[in-house]
Amino acid sequence: MENNSIFLEKDWWKKAVIYQIYPRSFQDSNGDGIGDIPGILRRLDYLADLGIDAIWLSPVYQSPQDDNGYDISDYEKIDPMFGTMEDMDQLIAKAKEKNIRIIMDLVLNHTSDEHTWFLEAKKSRDNPYHDYYIWRDGEPGKMPNEMRAVFGGPAWEWVPEVGQYYLHQFTVKQPDLNWENPKVRQELYKMINWWIDKGVGGFRLDTVDLFGKKPDEMITHNGPLLHDYLKEMSRESYGRKPLITVGEAWGADVENAKLYSNPDGSELSMVFQFEAMLLDEQGGKEKWDLSPLPFRQMKDVFNRWQTGLYEKGWNSLFWENHDIPRIISRWGNDKEYREKSAKMLATLLHGMQGTPYIYQGEELGMTNTAYDISEYRDIETLNMYKERKEKGVPENEIMASIHAKSRDNARSPMQWDTSPNAGFTSGIPWMKVNPNYTEINGEAALKDPDSIFHYYQKLIQLRKQYDVFTDGKFEMLLPEDESIFAYKRGHNEGCLTVFCNFYGETVECPMEACNGAQLLISNYSDSDSMTSLRPYEARIYYQ
Ligand code: GLC
Ligand code: CA
Repeated sequence: MENNSIFLEKDWWKKAVIYQIYPRSFQDSNGDGIGDIPGILRRLDYLADLGIDAIWLSPVYQSPQDDNGYDISDYEKIDPMFGTMEDMDQLIAKAKEKNIRIIMDLVLNHTSDEHTWFLEAKKSRDNPYHDYYIWRDGEPGKMPNEMRAVFGGPAWEWVPEVGQYYLHQFTVKQPDLNWENPKVRQELYKMINWWIDKGVGGFRLDTVDLFGKKPDEMITHNGPLLHDYLKEMSRESYGRKPLITVGEAWGADVENAKLYSNPDGSELSMVFQFEAMLLDEQGGKEKWDLSPLPFRQMKDVFNRWQTGLYEKGWNSLFWENHDIPRIISRWGNDKEYREKSAKMLATLLHGMQGTPYIYQGEELGMTNTAYDISEYRDIETLNMYKERKEKGVPENEIMASIHAKSRDNARSPMQWDTSPNAGFTSGIPWMKVNPNYTEINGEAALKDPDSIFHYYQKLIQLRKQYDVFTDGKFEMLLPEDESIFAYKRGHNEGCLTVFCNFYGETVECPMEACNGAQLLISNYSDSDSMTSLRPYEARIYYQ
């Protein structure tokens, strides 16, 4: 198997498709209602069948779970809730047998306040660990400055024992690490190398653009030393090894992405950038304030990233992750055209240049949830609900925002079959299962040759079969069109042309240039008109 595997190639991740698992919602194995590593082991065949090359595993480290594992109290231990280190070693080994690599989630901007480093740090100002975190003098009630935390409230917390404030860009239980301290950086590199020695396939780096923060100047993203830190980290750990590294960078633009994903390998393989994902917010600033998607602008954003990084960097391609809602509920149609729009969105994304990521359940066309507030678990959602309630925002307005944008839309348990709780758990699930599981589930998808699952499977196979998916140069077609997203991918051995109708009405679309070309994939079984596209119709031609 390994002999003809993509892992023998240096930049194997350029040809790879990655699947993200949010472990607590994927598969429970022991009936405690929380997904775990043995549960993932049970589902490896399903993932191998889909055809993915690697799994990005959201954090399974020891953690008080204030932010569902993004608050780590020991980087070298597995949280008992998810299993043991033996389970983890087994996952790495068993996945490898199926040609699947495990990508660990590294949360390096902050730790949990229950990490030993922080427990020591807050004992006294002269504790050797004090300087691992970011402290500023002050008095109770008089903060160093106005910085706000991402999940609401101030970014500073008072510790009476030391008479100082510490910085936390996320919850109070997530103190920011002091990257300016070389000892901190060395500790982190040592830990990364420890995981590399275990045989993982790479890393997803949480909030990578925050490492160079300068709180006194109120700088959070893209601090002055950020790229120096990343170069050093690469040199001292994963650099020059055949590993994938992808940084989460809400503050990335095309220019700095050329640094992050420099083809010389000096920083990372690629970043997740969110420019398109910020377009359906009012003023692009506050995710809860909803606004319709400006379609033309969205096309411009993709065009800019596709052309800007050509031969100068590398794109990641994704619609979903554990922090953003389900794409068919967001920009597709999760009712009448659920299947068609899911396939259209998949076509649009997987035809572009970059490494595609599939978030668990996306391949089934899972939808957003619309629960009562008591069913939500996410700290960001609950904080926002409280804040807006106190401000007097009407309940229905708050709930509309939550139904559209809550991170819990992506975190409801995976829908495997029609048995109670969708086969996710035999116990009480930590979060309510979406009642539509009786219709939308893995078992039904596997039985149906026309399912969204099988469509993703085919897209993955095509990427393996035709190099043009990896190498072809992107050229936007019909840039002015208000409902069609179309583009070409040129390459010396052939050319792809992708046509997608982004909406639910039939539209005129000039496709005569593809007369005689091979239709590689489409979400309609008969595609004979070369002048119009039906609701959410998508096609990829090859010639
Ligand atoms: C990233 C993670 C998110 C987490 C935050 C703090 O944005 O994806 O889930 O809450 O970082 O670690
Ligand atoms: Ca469990």
